[in-house]
Amino acid sequence: MFRKYTILAVLLTFLSACQSSPTFLNPASPISGHVANLYKILFNLALVVFVLVEGVLLWIIIRYRKKSNDPELPEQVFGNMRLEVIWTAIPLLLVFILFILTVQTTNVIAAPPWQPRDLNLRIVGHRWWWEFDYLDQGIATANELHIPVGRTVQVSLESVDVIHSFWVPQLSGKTDVIPGQHNTMWLKGDEVGVYLGQCAEFCGTQHALMRFKVYVDSQSDFDDWLANQQQPAYQPQTEDEQAGYKELSGACATCHSLDPSEMDTEKVGPNLAHLFSRTTFAGGTFDLNEENLRSWLEDTQAMKPGNDMVITVPPKSIDPIISYLSNLK
Ligand code: CUA
Repeated sequence: MFRKYTILAVLLTFLSACQSSPTFLNPASPISGHVANLYKILFNLALVVFVLVEGVLLWIIIRYRKKSNDPELPEQVFGNMRLEVIWTAIPLLLVFILFILTVQTTNVIAAPPWQPRDLNLRIVGHRWWWEFDYLDQGIATANELHIPVGRTVQVSLESVDVIHSFWVPQLSGKTDVIPGQHNTMWLKGDEVGVYLGQCAEFCGTQHALMRFKVYVDSQSDFDDWLANQQQPAYQPQTEDEQAGYKELSGACATCHSLDPSEMDTEKVGPNLAHLFSRTTFAGGTFDLNEENLRSWLEDTQAMKPGNDMVITVPPKSIDPIISYLSNLK
């Protein structure tokens, strides 16, 4: 009895996890919707084949098993033209149907439904974080992408170092991000929400921590977000903030920009102009708050070993830097 309930509990947990999991089976975009449909057809077809084949197998094993009073071997049969044609033709037909459905799905998701108010984005893979450039709006941000609900977003993908792969299971399939090559894809969110993304191509020690979020915003939320991102970075007010700003526009500026219009493609680190408008940092790895930021500045390599921020920030500079950064809303 106990075992039965355990199995039931595991099954229910699994099913409820599927309901809310950030997978393509909970699609929130036309692309993932098409992929999920194809998957369900494939799965159901495979299920029917499995039940039929295993059912017939079991039936034959039971029906024709050797009984205790069977005197000798049953009649031996070799070859049966009709059966062989049937079990060759049916799988061939199934594979052909699946081929047609797969080609149809591939065609539908490859071509974006072009609309006049489309957004053009450039997404750049860095080890190990994502750069998001809004080419027409002239702003750059990192690790948290905002797109307006129901609008087609045209994306070009680039890498500054190794091969990455851009993947938001609920919104899109995987597309490789290859150095020296411009791959394109499109995105469209049907429902307002936050969707998790992940680099899907092994790209080094912190590949697993190359995450990002996609915010599908209502049009007005998106416009507000965009207007804020287009503002210049906060000007330091207090003495502490001024000291922090000096550090950031000095040595830190080699890798980080405080100008929201400066694309990071040539820089090693993300644009910081509106850092605290984001909720995470370091490739979606840590919650963005002063405590985590302090740990990061004290020892970035302990927090995310192998990352490109190999400098040591002088301890006396940490407080001023944080006091300025935390204003960059
Ligand atoms: Cu980038 Cu894996």
